Amino acid sequence: MSEVEEIKSKLDIVDFISEYVNLNQSGRNYKANCPFHSEKTPSFIVDPSRQLWRCFGSCATGGDIFSFLMKIEGIEFPESLKILGERSGVHINVNSSSIRKDDYFQINEIAKNFYKSNLFTDEGKIAVDYLTKRGIDFNKIDSFDLGYSLKDRDSLKNHLLFHDVDFEKAIDSGLLNKFENGNVKDFFVGRLMFPISDRNGKVLGFGARALDDSMPKYINTPSSPVFDKRTILYGLHLAKDSIRKNDEVVVVEGYMDVIAAHEFNFKNVVASMGTALTVEQVRQIRNLASSYILALDQDTAGQEATLRSLQSSWGIFESLNTSNKDSFSDYSKILKVLAIPNGKDPDEFIRSESEDWGKIVSEALTLMDYLIPVLISRFDINVPGNSQRILELIFPILNNMDQLDRGKYLTELSNQFNSSLENVQAMFKVISQSKQSNGSDSQKPIKKSSRMIYLLALIFSNSELKIKAKDLNFEIFDLESRYLLTEYLKFDNLNDFENSLSEDYSRFYHQIIELSLLESTQNEFNDAFEFCVKILNKQRYKIAAATFSESQGSDYPSEEQINQINQINQKIRDS
Ligand code: UTP
Ligand code: MN
Repeated sequence: MSEVEEIKSKLDIVDFISEYVNLNQSGRNYKANCPFHSEKTPSFIVDPSRQLWRCFGSCATGGDIFSFLMKIEGIEFPESLKILGERSGVHINVNSSSIRKDDYFQINEIAKNFYKSNLFTDEGKIAVDYLTKRGIDFNKIDSFDLGYSLKDRDSLKNHLLFHDVDFEKAIDSGLLNKFENGNVKDFFVGRLMFPISDRNGKVLGFGARALDDSMPKYINTPSSPVFDKRTILYGLHLAKDSIRKNDEVVVVEGYMDVIAAHEFNFKNVVASMGTALTVEQVRQIRNLASSYILALDQDTAGQEATLRSLQSSWGIFESLNTSNKDSFSDYSKILKVLAIPNGKDPDEFIRSESEDWGKIVSEALTLMDYLIPVLISRFDINVPGNSQRILELIFPILNNMDQLDRGKYLTELSNQFNSSLENVQAMFKVISQSKQSNGSDSQKPIKKSSRMIYLLALIFSNSELKIKAKDLNFEIFDLESRYLLTEYLKFDNLNDFENSLSEDYSRFYHQIIELSLLESTQNEFNDAFEFCVKILNKQRYKIAAATFSESQGSDYPSEEQINQINQINQKIRDS
């Protein structure tokens, strides 16, 4: 029996899922509201006889105990194997990469405890005083494991040596800094230390605040094998139960904001750590709740950042034809924006008016109520074309709304634009038609497929194929892939190429190269390449033919058109 099968035979899926979802028996099966999308009538079924689960509602997914855990916790398979292995008592042969990660977690854990113990030394008193000055009640925030890094640049180093940790790893983890002359010193000195953990409480890195006005205010762990700021939400391990229970998560900006919220028992609060939210961060929470409140700074720069967060993490302003749309199509129902009164940040607000926090959170603006005034203040609607531009930006949201809500917002927009409702409705109609036919190009857009990604993975991993790729007809790719490949071929140096990419494209590129291809001979690589190209070409001609006959309507085709159709058919046969 494989490890996976053995684990499955020892655990009961009904017991396990019950810990997350309120299951009710219904005949042979169990039913509940689906935890992966919001719904009123239960369409989530667990079948104990086959040990499977399935959502018959809009997410239409299902699987076994592993896929459930991966989906609900937002984790990858190896981690789910580890968790369920521990739970079932089945011994898992852990692969080497997660062993390697464990070493870093352990080093960070030792450092965390060291920093924490420093608070009780004479020198650490300044950090305690600082926290007291900020009004923080130590007893209530013990779970955050705050600490202090001593000014002596050898102190952590010696402590780690004493614990016999792997020195190179301590350097890679960002805790120690290796200078060019070979000296190794502590990276963090004389700062208040905030351990930053993953959702399971493993310490990934640290944020470190200056105790005075010196700059930078915070220093964070540099990227390390386990620390990637873009994927982490500060405080998630302490917040996730409450997020699930409240079915709501509040995203703030700073460490201090999270700490204040938790101190006052608002535990469904996490921080994006000062940057615009990323897709990876959203992925961490999107299975936990059905309501998301962004409590981000609302000065002008903050507004900009909020818009950027809405765009980068939720794809709010993406046009309908882009590929990275996911199940959250109706953003308008699940996303809200909280502007805190009087320009305070959450920490200041909660410490002075904690009794009103619940109220302002519940009164957070729905996405549309937030966006309409912000966009109108951003684009001068007296400039011709700007009203249309605003409509185009929010088109995906409007388009996904039910008719009643859409009508309401179109009316509101017509008031704001000083234009008749008919006029705004007509504009909306024009936009939706042009989006559906994908703008000027009469051809239907090519969609990303796994074959396309595989072909890109082949090209990116093999230098001979890179040369061959230069002769490809790029129309077999969707726009995003086309762009990525064009850039890739432009550069001889891989680093230059990577540096040229925007964050989104860089993520896309890394998703592709992380596909592990089997060891193959050059011939096998070439064959796979040719095969993919052939299939993709075939698909492209099919789309072209379909679009062509559609666009001709019922009119009798001209001779020229018949020739064109014949040519396309010939190409399909050839390939
Ligand atoms: P803030 O300046 O709002 O920090 O930046 P804060 O947490 O409220 O801290 P106090 O109240 O001034 O002490 C928000 C977040 O941005 C990141 C940190 O994660 C911070 O919590 N940040 C900010 C940095 O990483 N580096 C900086 O220099 C500043
Ligand atoms: Mn603050």
